[in-house]
Amino acid sequence: MKAVIPAAGLGIRFLPLTKAQPKEMLPVVDKPTIQYVIEEAIAAGISDIIIVTGAGKRAIEDHFDRSPELESILERNGKERELQEIKRISNLAEIHYIRQKAPKGLGDAVYCARRHVGNEPFAVMLGDTINIASVPVVKQLMEIHELLDTSVIAVERVPKEKIQDYGIIKAKKVKERLHLIEDLVEKPKPDHAPSDYGITGTYILTPGIFHCIEQTPAGRNGEIQLTDALRLFLKEERIYAYEFEGRRYDIGDKLGWMKTNFELILDHPEFSEETTKFLLDLLKRKKMIKRTREGISRKRKR
Ligand code: G1P
Repeated sequence: MKAVIPAAGLGIRFLPLTKAQPKEMLPVVDKPTIQYVIEEAIAAGISDIIIVTGAGKRAIEDHFDRSPELESILERNGKERELQEIKRISNLAEIHYIRQKAPKGLGDAVYCARRHVGNEPFAVMLGDTINIASVPVVKQLMEIHELLDTSVIAVERVPKEKIQDYGIIKAKKVKERLHLIEDLVEKPKPDHAPSDYGITGTYILTPGIFHCIEQTPAGRNGEIQLTDALRLFLKEERIYAYEFEGRRYDIGDKLGWMKTNFELILDHPEFSEETTKFLLDLLKRKKMIKRTREGISRKRKR
């Protein structure tokens, strides 16, 4: 199976951070966000990857490309560990790049990959979403797809105040974690949302989606939305939603990105211990927590 990674968005929610660098290259602990996505695809056995880029996204191509000059400098200086790591990154997968000519939305970005995808089911993995799971989330969807032979998309329940940041589904539960989709709506107001199940950004789609994208008019923000194309697709095919096992990190805005860094640094074998000490000390210095006999508690606001 091939994977399409749309990475052409302008990163408006991250400005000014993303004025001169792609949001997919924002670091999470010690590597760029999009590297987590590529590594998830590879862990699921996907080795043919299409990244849909746009203006100002050169850094993504450079990151996954060979860098002979840097390699020889590292070699000369005996930096074996760093050398192996940058060589590993440039050999991760067979990556192809397609440019979306104008930022016309997620649906259009996926459509740009149609020739490379051909007439096969394929995965879509958003370039700014990190999943951490013992079985890669995309692999979980691939297994459902194999059983049901139709499109399946990852969902999770989202808090009410976050509903308008997501595509939301209306669905009928068919068994544990699996729902048959009846309708989808892109970023509804919480009071009009058909449920609290949000589309998290990992999809297995059958190629019929492409002609539905062709028929999809511009929707929210004047963009061609993948959610709207899926809505048309529902008239032709069953689409399932799967509540995946694992944790998804929301890198959709500045706060989500910063929280993800805190959480994943605390899981990192090299940095966890020092960071924990540092954070506790920092919170004490800022007088945000106090030590009690039982341990540590948050200070009450006066
Ligand atoms: C996109 C999709 C939306 C989905 C979300 C997940 O929106 O359009 O349906 O719920 O990704 O992150 P974006 O976050 O790109 O605005």
